[in-house]
Amino acid sequence: DGNYTVTLIPGDGIGPEIAQSVKEIFAAAKAPIKWEEVDVTPILKDGKTVIPDKAITSIKKNTVALKGPLATPIGKGHVSLNLTLRRTFSLFANVRPCVSIQGYKTAYDNVNTVLIRENTEGEYSGIEHEIVDGVVQSIKLITREASERVARYAFHYASENGRDKVTAVHKANIMKMSDGMFLTACRAVAKEYPKISYDEDLLDRVCLRIATDPTPFADRVMVMPNLYGDILSDLSAGLIGGLGLTPSGNIGRDASIFEAVHGSAPDIEGKGLANPTALLLSSLMMLRHMGLFELADKIEKAALSTIAEGKAITRDLGGKSGTREYTDAILSKLK
Ligand code: IPM
Ligand code: MN
Repeated sequence: DGNYTVTLIPGDGIGPEIAQSVKEIFAAAKAPIKWEEVDVTPILKDGKTVIPDKAITSIKKNTVALKGPLATPIGKGHVSLNLTLRRTFSLFANVRPCVSIQGYKTAYDNVNTVLIRENTEGEYSGIEHEIVDGVVQSIKLITREASERVARYAFHYASENGRDKVTAVHKANIMKMSDGMFLTACRAVAKEYPKISYDEDLLDRVCLRIATDPTPFADRVMVMPNLYGDILSDLSAGLIGGLGLTPSGNIGRDASIFEAVHGSAPDIEGKGLANPTALLLSSLMMLRHMGLFELADKIEKAALSTIAEGKAITRDLGGKSGTREYTDAILSKLK
């Protein structure tokens, strides 16, 4: 409809540098995107982390956001803002594709996986308490509703993207009730999609199989509870060269946030060394989500051919270039 205003959260650490690169690339590609940049520095209200109203309002209004890394405190401090955003907007499905990058050599050159992670509950419920001294309970919350919702999205995604199989990844041999219910939900949804085949596999077995040979995973979509998806998506990213190269999209009914999964890399902050690829590929998922397929293809080609030609390779990929040279190489292909 011609309204392509998007909320941009540059994020912490290297976030502003990689966001700048994406903005320049979009401008050179004549993308019709208007960025609305917002700050999400957390405010503490009644002991709870809240996102500034301005950011919430902007995402609500635009329904699409692109987000850089936000630092998450370990073991203490405020609830991760990444999680707060996912919860605030009920971004129930986290889509994480991993596709081999031509020109960057890893053990396999044919990785092409899509993992869909339940994104609102499971071990991420945040419900934890010390019952008595030395004993902590952490609640893994699984609901039929959220399980069916993410399963339905996985089948929908498979049918829209030419993948003919959905595999539910689980540990229902151990967590018979929670993962058992997740599987029951997946089986029910599978019946709604007779053209997509459905199977189930154990998480540990999938880790072993995918690291041994990712080929069989190229035709399917994997769907799983939250924490399993967190871990398995890093494993999959490792197969193609790491989190600097993998995009992700947090999909909700009323809003979607596309983000780089890597951290804020404070050690190289401000040094012009960051690799913007993960955020750029996330921005392409975003363009496709908005129906701008040709534009996404054009930018993707410029970025991937830059890497494939071995030009302007950043240090994380074993090259000597910085963010500037990498961005310039892509810009010159778009002009
Ligand atoms: C991810 C990250 C987050 C997660 C952190 C930063 C809260 O690792 O997006 O995978 O655990 O989900
Ligand atoms: Mn993670």
